[in-house]
Amino acid sequence: MSEKQKPWGGRFSEATDPRVERFSASVQFDCALARYDIRGSIAHARMLAATGLIPAADAEALEAGLEAIGRQIEAGEFSFDPALEDIHMNIEARLREQIGPVAGRLHTGRSRNDQVATDLALYLRDACTAAGRGLLQLRHVLVERAAEHLDTILPGYTHLQRAQPVRLAHHWLAYVEMFERDAARFADARGRMAYAPLGSGALAGSTLPLDREATASALGFDGPSRNSMDTVAARDHALEFLSATAIAMIHLSRISEELVLWSSAEFGFVELADAYSTGSSLMPQKKNPDVPELVRGKSGRAVGNLVSLLTAVEGLPLTYNRDLQEDKEPIFDSARTLGDCLDVTAGALATLRVGVDRMRSAAADPMLLATDLAEVLVQEGVAFREAHEAVGRIVGHCVEKDVDLSALSREDLRAFHPAFPAGADQLLDVERSLEARALPGGTARETVAAALAAARERLAAEARELDAGEEP
Ligand code: ARG
Repeated sequence: MSEKQKPWGGRFSEATDPRVERFSASVQFDCALARYDIRGSIAHARMLAATGLIPAADAEALEAGLEAIGRQIEAGEFSFDPALEDIHMNIEARLREQIGPVAGRLHTGRSRNDQVATDLALYLRDACTAAGRGLLQLRHVLVERAAEHLDTILPGYTHLQRAQPVRLAHHWLAYVEMFERDAARFADARGRMAYAPLGSGALAGSTLPLDREATASALGFDGPSRNSMDTVAARDHALEFLSATAIAMIHLSRISEELVLWSSAEFGFVELADAYSTGSSLMPQKKNPDVPELVRGKSGRAVGNLVSLLTAVEGLPLTYNRDLQEDKEPIFDSARTLGDCLDVTAGALATLRVGVDRMRSAAADPMLLATDLAEVLVQEGVAFREAHEAVGRIVGHCVEKDVDLSALSREDLRAFHPAFPAGADQLLDVERSLEARALPGGTARETVAAALAAARERLAAEARELDAGEEP
């Protein structure tokens, strides 16, 4: 590749130092923007012809050339040249090779600054939609697995100590809620990527009579962006994407951690399918939860990518600065990482074996019902603090004497507090405890069944919305 092809050649008499060329090139990663760059250029070329800025025949030649390049890239037949710096100049140089000097008309009224902002907005819109789809699929799996386990009971934990019994469906629906908010964050961020950068030029627009409405609507935006300087300088849409990704990855790391813990012999609550586990090269008995471990580990990248771009943008004066080229790798890496992690987590959950009996026996410890016992006293008019204290003494007694809480008679209970009513000793039952929590958001069977049905409905509505919002 020769220096001559660089578009700023006129001003320069010396060739770029090869080290600078290598240092500043971005095409090895921003080639991921190729299809968006081509779409943007075709919309721009058509607009230039429609406004009479270039002859219609030239616009047709540009479009045909760009489409041919798109096909070459798609087929892997395009060799990207780092000497041409970025994807924008690689495509433009190839266009010149293919259609000759007419290629020089494409960049009319355009800068790489509004060009890259356009490519990025288009990329991020798709990435938000893809994240929404991945999150939808994962929630679909969680809801279906939850439905299978409406009657599977396990301990709910606080501080990783057994706390109170819950249904496995309720536990997994907690993640459905988190992933639903994640999806909403992506949809919300996408909604703010609604304005087209093209026509903002390098920073101050253009003297040419460009039709910004036309390119905006051709590319599926709601309209042209409002401020040319903001348009080329801002990267908060990318930061929002990275932030939503980091939060979703944190949620994935939490469910992954539970899969790791639960598949240990100590818990024995679940077993990952062979297809989602790996063996040890040394210990023949091992079945390792590498998939959730890797998802947990990769959450670090997503957080790092967010911090990396926040730091790159922090303190930048308006408008475009080359620092902004550092936005690409974190964005691409986060998008790929999230997509992969959503995918394998959905697969691991869909194929997971659940140790229903192990879960139930862990939840059978009557100590998990101590709170219920205190609430029995509250129903008799005892102040909660007093009830808590009395039951605390009962628990201490059981631990000390090594007796089962549920083995205590009403008389035993009354020795600790006189308000225990008849039948209080019959109340210490796991099913009863679950059923007694029929408040909205609680563990009663019907409550959880209704939550499942509602989640299913919301998923169906979201799927319809995603389909409707798909890019043209
Ligand atoms: N590769 C550049 C980027 O990603 C494109 C914009 C370059 N603009 C410039 N004025 N050097 O930011």
